[in-house]
Amino acid sequence: MKILMTGGAGFIGSHAVRLFVNKYPEYRIYNLDALTYAGNLENLRDIEGKPNYTFIKGDISDATLVSSLFSEHGFDAVIHFAAESHVDRSISGPARFVMTNILGTFNLLEAARQAWAGHSADKLFYHISTDEVYGSLGASGFFTEQTPYDPRSPYSASKASSDHLVRAYYHTYEMPVVITNCSNNYGPNQFPEKLIPLVLQNIRLGKDIPVYGKGENVRDWLYVEDHAVASDLVFHNGNHGATYNIGGNNEWKNIDLVMLLCRVMDEKLGKPAGTSEKLIAFVKDRAGHDKRYAIDSSRIQDELGWQPSLQFEEGLRKTVDWYLENGEWLDHVTSGDYQHYYENQYRKR
Ligand code: NAD
Ligand code: TYD
Repeated sequence: MKILMTGGAGFIGSHAVRLFVNKYPEYRIYNLDALTYAGNLENLRDIEGKPNYTFIKGDISDATLVSSLFSEHGFDAVIHFAAESHVDRSISGPARFVMTNILGTFNLLEAARQAWAGHSADKLFYHISTDEVYGSLGASGFFTEQTPYDPRSPYSASKASSDHLVRAYYHTYEMPVVITNCSNNYGPNQFPEKLIPLVLQNIRLGKDIPVYGKGENVRDWLYVEDHAVASDLVFHNGNHGATYNIGGNNEWKNIDLVMLLCRVMDEKLGKPAGTSEKLIAFVKDRAGHDKRYAIDSSRIQDELGWQPSLQFEEGLRKTVDWYLENGEWLDHVTSGDYQHYYENQYRKR
């Protein structure tokens, strides 16, 4: 089986690519990634020489490129992670989100439709999406697969749009598709613009920790490797046309999470308790800031037997250890040095 995985140099994609490459030596995995600021081949150093793995640098918003890759390689399946993924960037510059998340997904669907015409029954288009398409919850309740879409940021609107396109291809063209909508991920290799690595990086550098508004917004956090394991299960056993919500059943108010991170960092860095907390700075709230996300993941648990594997404290400690041991990775991604890694890699080949 030849699988096109998009966005595999990013945070979640790199964990999923590693899992597929190592677990399924009989599959050929093609990782198509534009290497935007969020894509970093250093994330995949350990598998770059594997015989069943190929990296392709390219942009999914380029329809000609995407369709020529289907002709050249004859992909049997797509697992589509590539996206612009940061809400704050979508507020300051929404155009790129439309290009990558909507047009890019459309290009992949169209290329697959053309390539698989008349023999799509054993193919699969697996689209990775987010719980943010469901909008914002009040103090109670959970997002289920039946929750009506109500996206409220340019990011979530672009992801919602891509989900609708994927479902339209299932109903209209009978393309085998599956979609997952996951809650906030955390773990190694996350770009330090997202809350958890940003807090760790700022503590490391002794910089202020910006907490939006009063820090009362709530997110449901899942360890990234649990998302990768869920993607393996859904890819192999998910029902075509179905959606599965994935979540950590692990809700945290931002300020409580930031305080916990401060405590763990003080402990790990051997600083007196209360040191890092002093860096917390309440800043202007995010525009249209969704109040609360919480996922009901009973469907994937009941139908596919998936469960989050790690308790949050354990996952968080593993994450903190990884960032402390990989200060060079953090420095590279924040300075842009990782882009030299790509250039060096390609000069060698
Ligand atoms: P990320 O920003 O870390 O990585 C995105 C990757 O996509 C990068 O490697 C980037 O280079 C690549 N990319 C971006 N634009 C591209 C383009 N036009 N063509 C080709 N490649 C391109 O994102 P992530 O956090 O790993 O998220 C991966 C997927 O999971 C996204 O679809 C996102 O919506 C979804 N998701 C993320 C979370 C989360 O908490 N991070 C939660 C639920 C769902
Ligand atoms: P983020 O990691 O950007 O994920 P998302 O917005 O997709 O949920 O943010 C998580 C939460 O943390 C969100 O409520 C916004 C908040 N936040 C801050 O308070 N300060 C920050 O610097 C960032 C990046 C996020």
